[in-house]
Amino acid sequence: MASGPPNSKPAERILWLRETLDHHSKLYHTFDQPEIPDAEYDKLFNELLSLEEKHPALQTADSPSLRVGGQPLDKFDKVTHRQAMLSLGNAFTEKDLIDFDKRIRDRLKTSESAIGYVAEPKLDGLAVSLTYQDGLFVQGATRGNGQVGEDITPNLRTIKSLPLKLANAPAGLLEVRGEVFIDKPSFVALNRDQQARDAKVFVNPRNAAAGSLRLLDSSITASRPLRIYIYSTGPVEVDTTLPDTHWDMLQWLKSLGLPINPESKKQKSITECHKYYQTMLKRREKLDYEIDGIVFKVDNLLQQQQLGFVSRAPRWAIAHKFPAEEATTELLAVDFQVGRTGALTPVARLEPVFVGGAMVSNATLHNMDEVARKGIYIGDTVIVRRAGDVIPEVVSAVLSQRPANITEIMLPEVCPECGSVVIASDDISVAKCSGSFNCKAQRREGLKHFVSRRAMNIDGLGEKLIEQLIDRQMVQWPSDLYQLTKESLLQLDLVKDKTATKLLNAIEHSKETTLGRFLFALGIPEVGETTAEQLAQHFGSVEALAAADVDYYLPRGIEGIGKSRAESMVALFADQDIPENGEPLAAWLKDNVPRIKPDQIEQLLQKYPNATVLKQVDANDLQSKSASRVEGVGETMATLIVAFFNNKQHTDEIQRLIDSGIRWSTGDAVMEDTVTDDALAGKTFVITGKFNNMSRDEISAALKARGGKVTGSVSKNTSVLVCGEAAGSKLTKAEALGLEIIDESGLQALLG
Ligand code: IVH
Repeated sequence: MASGPPNSKPAERILWLRETLDHHSKLYHTFDQPEIPDAEYDKLFNELLSLEEKHPALQTADSPSLRVGGQPLDKFDKVTHRQAMLSLGNAFTEKDLIDFDKRIRDRLKTSESAIGYVAEPKLDGLAVSLTYQDGLFVQGATRGNGQVGEDITPNLRTIKSLPLKLANAPAGLLEVRGEVFIDKPSFVALNRDQQARDAKVFVNPRNAAAGSLRLLDSSITASRPLRIYIYSTGPVEVDTTLPDTHWDMLQWLKSLGLPINPESKKQKSITECHKYYQTMLKRREKLDYEIDGIVFKVDNLLQQQQLGFVSRAPRWAIAHKFPAEEATTELLAVDFQVGRTGALTPVARLEPVFVGGAMVSNATLHNMDEVARKGIYIGDTVIVRRAGDVIPEVVSAVLSQRPANITEIMLPEVCPECGSVVIASDDISVAKCSGSFNCKAQRREGLKHFVSRRAMNIDGLGEKLIEQLIDRQMVQWPSDLYQLTKESLLQLDLVKDKTATKLLNAIEHSKETTLGRFLFALGIPEVGETTAEQLAQHFGSVEALAAADVDYYLPRGIEGIGKSRAESMVALFADQDIPENGEPLAAWLKDNVPRIKPDQIEQLLQKYPNATVLKQVDANDLQSKSASRVEGVGETMATLIVAFFNNKQHTDEIQRLIDSGIRWSTGDAVMEDTVTDDALAGKTFVITGKFNNMSRDEISAALKARGGKVTGSVSKNTSVLVCGEAAGSKLTKAEALGLEIIDESGLQALLG
């Protein structure tokens, strides 16, 4: 990178530094395409800071140095808006929207077949007004009561995507309005950081943005991940001809370097507007910021002027609100649900409440750690959240409304379904029923999992039927399904001849499967579809998998031996004549292996006591802290897998399943996927959620065919999360890690 004018005067150097920093800041914050490393940017930035400190006369209002914030204020000054900052009328239904369009046509007495609109996501943040004088950002204010706001200029200057100087600096006064917000991934990261520092945790991104903007110490604001999108103008007195539509105005603002929401779209008619609303309602969860509706604005500015205002809202715009995702209600009781692995989940029974577009009377409390963390009691008024297709959850208790008589939520001592003892160690978040397959709930959930589409795919065997089969003791274990006959099925309620035949066919059909599906169906704790497939690929048979111990997955190796030393040791053992065993072998190792220590010799001989085994050792086995042999299987999972196969009840059941005719072609299991190109080589994908046009298997195969790797859990090593609808914790984790997240259309683009 150029280092700027050599031996330049401070004024020249400062000018060069500002331009260079502005350029790189825009590349980073507006275009997401940094050209220089952060450290280099910081170096230039610090140089500017110290030059300006030495030469205060050279300080200007557009210097990027102002972005770090300044001296704390005692209070904010009041600012009277040159033009009131208005609010918007609301629409809640499609009819409201049609009525809005009709009112507009009636007023305009237009003969046009349709009114053109611009649709913009309604960001849930804080409205601000920015004033530019001759292209320089000179003042920024909050909305306040619409007439008078507060001067928060130093705080706004810290927002990296807010230009301090406009491109082509138009002469005169330009006021713009927009929304300041914090996006979802940054919000998660901010709260994690706050928690780590024992500082206040924010309830939602909006509160975090509001709190950050109204700090008297702008140097703290500078550390908050604020963003801004501009959505309209205020008073404009510039010496250029202005566009005559709102859409063109947005494009003009964009050309000045102001950030405009790329989701804003021009619409031909109110019908199109409604379609946009529905599309965005579906996409809402996947946007990286929170929106609470869509704003529709008449596009033609002359028409806007003709329509004017009513009380404090324009007649030419409306906000079509999304159903609220949070509501408050009373927590009546807590029950515990037993899952497939015996894990007890506290479920809140609520006074029914309308939230996220549906009535909700049950919501998850996740686990006892969460209950403790959130400090929730029975009797509390609680905030319930239902977003998209995600299971409703209790977010928090409203402490100001806590009644006198509250009851603690207690983990039961025995399983509510089978009466077995509940095992809850220190780690109460994973309290489990000890009943295993003797617990009806675990049997039911295990069977539901076994027959599910991605496992053995037995169509038509729903919850009700499973429940009956268990109650009548017709099915205990999954293998019992393969013993069912038409006569036995006909005894069940609601099962007629046709249903019974269909079901038996489906059961028969399921016998032809893959090893991966079979392993997934077994319900080994923590082993999801992808890991099951990886285990199948690696071991190729149930026997090989069952024989592996934890050391196999994670060879512990010899302390202090790295990869390259392990490799040279293996080469050495293979090459040389080695004494058979005992003292001579130990002495040989001491003399021939460079830098080997006595305790390493001891460890080595304990594992490989003679020349024959030593000559066969694998470098991966010698290396300390070697990587897992099976992708995604760390120590915890390896322990669970080994424990699963050490349980005789499980191995007996596997044998019964195989005896009843379940089979897979062994060739398939170890066959590598056909790689057609390497466009995605080096990238690791995780797939989560539901997809409309492809199954997860198909997505996985398509990614692998292009050289990509697919794993089951999100980590910092994940390159991309492929996220369908109703995604859960994987999405949250990916957001927290700031990973790239793509939806189904993004995937299609990627796959070409
Ligand atoms: S236009 C005269 N556009 O919604 C028009 N407002 O209820 C005034 N908001 O205070 C606002 N996104 O904070 C407009 N694309 C958008 C918006 C938006 C969010 C907020 C804004 C305003 C409130 C009005």
